[in-house]
Amino acid sequence: MSYVIGVDLGTSAVKTLLMDRKGNIAAEATRSYPLFHDRPGYSEQRPEDWVTATIEAMNEVASANGIDASTIEGISFSGQMHGLVLLNESGEVVRNAILWNDTRTTAECREIETVLGETLLSVTRNPALEGFTLPKILWVRKHEKQLFDQASIFLLPKDYVRYRLTGELHMDYSDAAGTLLLDVAGKTWSEEVLKAFDLPASFCPPLVESHGLVGTLLPEVAAASGLSASTKVFAGGADNACGAIGAGILSEGLTLSSIGTSGVILSYENDKNKDFAGKVHFFNHGKENSFYAMGVTLAAGYSLSWFKKTFAANESFNEMLAGIEDVQPGSNGLLFTPYLVGERTPHPDANIRASFIGVDGSHERVHFARAVMEGITFSLNESVDMFRQAGKVVDKVVSIGGGAQNPVWLQMQADIFNATVVSLENEQGPGLGAAMLAAYGCEWFTSLEECANQFVKHADSYKPNAEAVEQYAGLFRIYQQVYAQTVSINEQLVPFRG
Ligand code: XUL
Repeated sequence: MSYVIGVDLGTSAVKTLLMDRKGNIAAEATRSYPLFHDRPGYSEQRPEDWVTATIEAMNEVASANGIDASTIEGISFSGQMHGLVLLNESGEVVRNAILWNDTRTTAECREIETVLGETLLSVTRNPALEGFTLPKILWVRKHEKQLFDQASIFLLPKDYVRYRLTGELHMDYSDAAGTLLLDVAGKTWSEEVLKAFDLPASFCPPLVESHGLVGTLLPEVAAASGLSASTKVFAGGADNACGAIGAGILSEGLTLSSIGTSGVILSYENDKNKDFAGKVHFFNHGKENSFYAMGVTLAAGYSLSWFKKTFAANESFNEMLAGIEDVQPGSNGLLFTPYLVGERTPHPDANIRASFIGVDGSHERVHFARAVMEGITFSLNESVDMFRQAGKVVDKVVSIGGGAQNPVWLQMQADIFNATVVSLENEQGPGLGAAMLAAYGCEWFTSLEECANQFVKHADSYKPNAEAVEQYAGLFRIYQQVYAQTVSINEQLVPFRG
């Protein structure tokens, strides 16, 4: 039997998956690393920690019982998006990486909007958001000029890890799309954007397809990981693109609902000119010459884990959620907006905060718990709603992550999205998409779709219930009013925040 490894470089940990040709998981390993929040809004990591953790986690799966490491043919990656890694001419890291959830760059976002005007949406196809990479580049240039002057090239997190494993510098289209430096439809670094910010073309690494072969392992990495130095390394993709590949979102009409710390609604798109007017993200997919539109809820699973930590610290999720199935849609008149850390879609606003609206004396913890789940799902439905308004059909949604762990939440998604919701057997998230890119790159399959037929298996299917659909449609209209009615209140509260 031969194998591939999918490396999922996440925000809190790296996970490696060893998969065989049939799509079975032969071994998996996880290593975590720290996040640094030195000031409010700052979120950084040490790139060296990613490298050490990745090699350790590769070593663990390569030395699993019954595995001959020489039969591991290929490796590929899924990466947390947008994080800025700056390298000097010797390929050394100049400063810690600034991550996707760092919000220090509001001023730089406004500068990008002013300098680029309409080019921002027509070329990069995305709004300027704090999380994206170009604002981070401008921030370092403005605030840490000495460090910036040492930098000769930038990479994204998984590209740095791959560089350390192979010695080769590359970036794939799906991750490059989240930098605001890519001409998304044209699949090139945008000369116009680079020129507008006085950045040389050499600042950007060569672009490759996600399944593109970029090299083999350096001898010292092969020795440390227990893998053969001839193991092929393929570029890999952004975590959302890989999550979509791992859920089989590879053709028109398929939509992904992913509830992790953040939540994502992602819809496959063939048409590179499809215009969402910057209301949702529009990125290159990890499948060649295809795209996806995506809306992001910043605090999705995070809202529920915050609720558990605060109100049910000593219980399991299942204990905390016991009885939610007996509460009617609408949680007896209680509404929650999940803006614990601000919001992205459809309200890019770093200052908005969450609300519970409609609390009365009859509400128990179970109503609050259900309201949190409903609020997260309403927020995701804002993206579903925008896709539909732009003419996309959303009738089948594949659910992964926390929202797929609980049958009540799966049915709630079906009722709120008014679409059939399916879960996956043995769901593995973005790491599976990364392994599939390696399997396709190794030519085990003639297409990613053929690979998905073997690797991705649908499990249960949840149909919308007409009565609940109608109730939720009314509640969603009320939910949509909360943002506008709390925005100024939250602005006034900013000075009082810790
Ligand atoms: C997407 C985004 C997050 C990160 C998480 O735009 O910022 O989903 O990719 O890793």
